[in-house]
Amino acid sequence: MEKQGRRRFLITCIGGLAAAGTAAIAYPLLTYLSPKKAVSTRRAVEIPETDISEGKAKFFEYEGKTAVIIKAKGTVHAFSAVCTHLGCIVQWEKEKGQFLCPCHAGRFSADGEVISGPPPRPLEKLPVAMRDGKIIVG
Ligand code: FES
Repeated sequence: MEKQGRRRFLITCIGGLAAAGTAAIAYPLLTYLSPKKAVSTRRAVEIPETDISEGKAKFFEYEGKTAVIIKAKGTVHAFSAVCTHLGCIVQWEKEKGQFLCPCHAGRFSADGEVISGPPPRPLEKLPVAMRDGKIIVG
């Protein structure tokens, strides 16, 4: 009788250890293999409306890259300031109302379109909204 009790105890212990070992291997494996949930990493940037006036550009950091907002003809635009040619940072020429890329003289209009030079595409537009006296980019 005592022998059967000991055997049952050992079988229960071995079963428990096997279950724990299986869980220890399966959980990290399933976690690794399951698809990641889509989480937006975008963070909005708020800029006071008073910081920008007609014809003026303001550069700022957006998602780790240089971005720019500009008010032209009463409309606020937001762009990535990264040139679409080889990635230099464009500059704003207020007197000409254009962006100039200093690397290869690419020119963009105030609405980001290519005017001249080697850039193959317009500047990347960023979502922009106005709320409570703030310009919200992102
Ligand atoms: S990197 Fe801007 S024109 Fe070449």
